[in-house]
Amino acid sequence: MRLRGRKGIRENLEQQEDLVVLEPKQHKGKWAELFGNDHPIFVEFGMGKGQFISQMSYKYPQYNFIGIDMYDELVRRASEKARNAWSQAEVETPPNLKLALANIEQIEEVFDPKELERIYLNFSDPWPKAKHARRRLTHPRFLKKYIELLNPKGQIHFKTDSETLFEFSLNSIADFGLQMTNLSLNLHREGLNEEHVMTEYEQKFMGKGMNIHRVEVIVGEEALREYNEVRLDKYKVREATDESGEDQDEA
Ligand SMILES: C[S@@+](CC[C@H](N)C(=O)[O-])C[C@H]1O[C@@H](n2cnc3c(N)ncnc32)[C@H](O)[C@@H]1O
Repeated sequence: MRLRGRKGIRENLEQQEDLVVLEPKQHKGKWAELFGNDHPIFVEFGMGKGQFISQMSYKYPQYNFIGIDMYDELVRRASEKARNAWSQAEVETPPNLKLALANIEQIEEVFDPKELERIYLNFSDPWPKAKHARRRLTHPRFLKKYIELLNPKGQIHFKTDSETLFEFSLNSIADFGLQMTNLSLNLHREGLNEEHVMTEYEQKFMGKGMNIHRVEVIVGEEALREYNEVRLDKYKVREATDESGEDQDEA
C-alpha cells in the first residue's frame, strides 16, 4: 500500500518536468541554461511544503529560485503550492522556479562553485542532541560548502524559532569570520510586515507566540564591500548628527 503511494508520488513528479527536477546533479554548473537566462539564483535548502519559495518566485520575477528538499512527497506538495501561487497570474509553469529533490549532504554535486547568489535556511531541523550536531544545516561542515557555492554577491539568510540552533549557528558563522547583519531575536516584534514572506513553520510558530530569530550573513567579497560602504555612510551621518548636537540627551 505504502509502496503504491510512493510510486504514485514518483509518477506525479515525473509528469512535472517543467517545474520539478528529479536528477538535479545533471544540472550542476548549468542551472542558468535550465532557466534560460543568467539572473541570480536564490535557493532554499529544506523548503518543506514550499510556501516561501513559491511566493518569493512570484514576488521577485527578476531572480531565479530553486527549492530543495530530500522528500519526494514534500516536493510534490511544493509543486502544488507553486502552481497555485502563480495561478493568480494565470501562469501554469512558474518561469523562474525549480523544485529539486536532493539531499543537502551532497549539495556540492548539485551546484558548481559560485553558482548561487543567496541561500535561505528557514527553520532547519534543530537536531537538539549534541551527538546530532553534525546534522544541523548550519554546522561548519555545511557552511564550508555554502561558502564555496556562493558568488561574490553571495549571502545566507537564516530564520529559526530555536534559540539553541540560533546560538549554535551564530557561533559557526563567527568561527568562519563572516560578517552578520540585520540580526533579530524577535523578527515580528513590531507586528507583521507585509513585505516579509513567511514560511509554513514561521506561521505555525508565530501562531504559538514564539519568537523568530533571523540573521543575514554576508559571504561574497562584493556583498561585503557594499555592506561596508552602507555601514560607513550610516556612521558618518550618525557622527555628524552627534556633532551638531541633534538628538542628544538634555542631561
Ligand atoms: C522543519 S522543516 C522547515 C520547512 C520550511 N523551510 C519552513 O520553514 O516551513 C525542515 C525541512 O528541511 C528538510 N531537510 C532537512 N535536512 C535536509 C537535508 N539534508 N537535505 C534536504 N532537505 C532537508 C526536511 O525534509 C524538512 O522539509
